[in-house]
Amino acid sequence: MNIVLLGPPGAGKGTVAALLKKELGVPHISTGDIFRENIKNGTELGRKVESIMASGALVPDDVTVELVRDRLSKADAADGYILDGFPRTIAQAEALSSFADIDAAVCFVLSEEEIVKRLSGRRICKSTGRIYHIVSNPPKVEGIDDETGEPLIQRDDDKPEAIRHRLEVYEASTAPLISYYEGKGLLRNIDASASPEDVLASILKALRG
Ligand code: AP5
Repeated sequence: MNIVLLGPPGAGKGTVAALLKKELGVPHISTGDIFRENIKNGTELGRKVESIMASGALVPDDVTVELVRDRLSKADAADGYILDGFPRTIAQAEALSSFADIDAAVCFVLSEEEIVKRLSGRRICKSTGRIYHIVSNPPKVEGIDDETGEPLIQRDDDKPEAIRHRLEVYEASTAPLISYYEGKGLLRNIDASASPEDVLASILKALRG
């Protein structure tokens, strides 16, 4: 099954994708994670996208589309995948439709107040990408990753100014994808305010029902 996860920044897509991939046995492909990995490794791509991401703007469509086209050609994606954070513009969705058949677009629905709370409290482990929240999902020891023992960090784009900009960019460029996938009969709206386990259960029901 080829699934797209849609929805505003901080709605819980990455958190639930980590659970969903175990259920479905397909890879979780997050363009944000791929870009962050490139920044961490100091690659040419990483240098190109670092300041764009920190500001909360979008990486150009051509760069992102080629990255995804290449990733979907790998053997582990042959039997399905979960796309998280892609497509993010109508142009990306149209490009995707030229090299992939999407079975469902799952849209995480959450209020802006809750989004801001989730983003401002998020902490991540830089080397593994594991996601925490200082209130709803804290690590066992404050500020430390449960498995690697590394210090947790706050993403540059989770600072207040970047959060505001990301929400504007989402409304202008990404929200139109909701109608795009609705028009194709692929949209599944999910209430993302529940616990990650309950959000997972709603998604599985929507996909199988
Ligand atoms: P990306 O990494 O995709 O960020 P995003 O879409 O803004 O999504 P987030 O990772 O912020 O949120 P999420 O929904 O995954 O929430 P999470 O599970 O972490 O993109 C980053 C940047 O990369 C973009 O701004 C852009 O520059 C670039 N980029 C990426 N893709 C691109 C593309 N296609 N085109 C162009 N540019 C692109 O959860 C958030 C917090 O909430 C966590 O603390 C978590 O613990 C908590 N939480 C999660 N679920 C729950 C729950 N159910 N209950 C309580 N707390 C919860």
